[in-house]
Amino acid sequence: MAQLSNVGFDYWPGRLDAAAQRALADEVLARLAEAPPYRPVTPGGKPMSVEMSNFGPLGWITDAGGYRYEARHPVTGQPWPDIPRALLALWAELGDAATPPDACLVNLYGADARMGLHQDRDEADFSHPVLSVSLGDTAVFRIGGVRRGEPTRSLRLASGDVCRLAGEGRLSHHGVDRVLAGSSRLLSQGGRINLTLRRAGPAAL
Ligand code: SIN
Ligand code: MN
Repeated sequence: MAQLSNVGFDYWPGRLDAAAQRALADEVLARLAEAPPYRPVTPGGKPMSVEMSNFGPLGWITDAGGYRYEARHPVTGQPWPDIPRALLALWAELGDAATPPDACLVNLYGADARMGLHQDRDEADFSHPVLSVSLGDTAVFRIGGVRRGEPTRSLRLASGDVCRLAGEGRLSHHGVDRVLAGSSRLLSQGGRINLTLRRAGPAAL
């Protein structure tokens, strides 16, 4: 584990080897055929530059009604596919062994996609961590403090890298400044997939 100066932010570069990345990418792409990525809009009506889907009982969505978790894909109306076992195992090891994740947000970044600095705060209980897995092209990721306006630092998240926001850093601001197009050959169509595992509902759900 590489220790950065941000409290509550942990980073495991290369946590998934090439074979594990390939296997996970195949599982993710198969599920995305069932739950197609769509382009969400912010509550203010602005289309996001990333495409999104979800796996698990609950999926994070945004639309004119606000940010929230929903049990069904907003376009197909179908329940989200299940979370790949490899991700459940990773969460048991690096996330929270006592409480499984119930949500896996899938963000797909093309060459021009980015994500502004934000906090993950739509979950019922912030004592559970947020665990993030990157596949495909490298992202220039930005991590700051819990309070907006605190200094931020940037690091590159490459395919197979895992990072975690937990404890005092659970509500740290974070975002993606840009994606380095063509930096990975894992995904035949190029781009980056980020998988964010969370416990969205109460632990007793
Ligand atoms: C997110 O915060 O939802 C995504 C972060 C990432 O793509 O690395
Ligand atoms: Mn986030």
